[in-house]
Amino acid sequence: MDSLTTPLGAARARGLERELAVAMDAAARAAALQVERYERLERIVHKSARDILTEVDTLSEELIISTIGEAFPDDAFLAEESGQSRPGTGRTWVIDPLDGTVNYANGIPIFCTSICLVIDGRPSVAALTDPARDDRYTAVAGGGAFLNDRPIAMPVKEAMSDLVCHISLPPYGFARREWRIRKLIRVARETGSAALGLAYVGNGRFDAFIQPRGLWLWDIAAAGLIAEEGGARVTDGTGGPWFVESAENRSRGIIAALPTHHATILELLR
Ligand code: IPD
Ligand code: CA
Ligand code: CA
Repeated sequence: MDSLTTPLGAARARGLERELAVAMDAAARAAALQVERYERLERIVHKSARDILTEVDTLSEELIISTIGEAFPDDAFLAEESGQSRPGTGRTWVIDPLDGTVNYANGIPIFCTSICLVIDGRPSVAALTDPARDDRYTAVAGGGAFLNDRPIAMPVKEAMSDLVCHISLPPYGFARREWRIRKLIRVARETGSAALGLAYVGNGRFDAFIQPRGLWLWDIAAAGLIAEEGGARVTDGTGGPWFVESAENRSRGIIAALPTHHATILELLR
């Protein structure tokens, strides 16, 4: 097989092979822990009225950070549960140890672990694992996206009526806009794991991912790169750049779609 058609080959061509290998290893370790403890949770605490945290979120994050930190001791981290460490190094690992915690805690097998290396503000290496299916999504900036070591790409769909879209619109103020989109597309879904739903755009399991606000850098970093490398046009909720590292403390939106439909979706959201 041509080396550029494998994730590690694509990463090697960009001098990032070790980074991808370590990210995949960290994601695999967290995934194994999540499978082992699935439906065996010991602790669920409330971060806020609607937000929960389990021991598996914390343990997964510790495992990922120790695996990556051992390999790259000088790199910085931005991780959902432990926050930012050592900023300003030019290399930051952005981590959501368990995306879809509510699903996980409820025994719904739709969740993932998401790891992205951001170099000089640019998402560069992504490893996102769906432990329930043992699906391993990876991407390297400029080097393509992969699912279980095979290259992936979005299928072309000309008609809006063929689109299957992951849609999460805010509960207030978006009813008319949601209806305008829904009546044009085939069907809308919401998985409860934004990172997994966005990664699915990379190989056309979803033709678009539409969430105009409420996401954080760790939700979108790896999956946004996977979607983009799979051929999607990816922007924030208003058509601007989808990844802005300085916005780490601000919730964001993402619109990822086939390039031919992206502008129409943005327009329908206005
Ligand atoms: C959440 C999930 C959810 C999305 C929320 C995220 P978490 O992440 O991705 O699908 O709608 O905005 O915060 O808390 O499960 O890591
Ligand atoms: Ca998340
Ligand atoms: Ca999380």
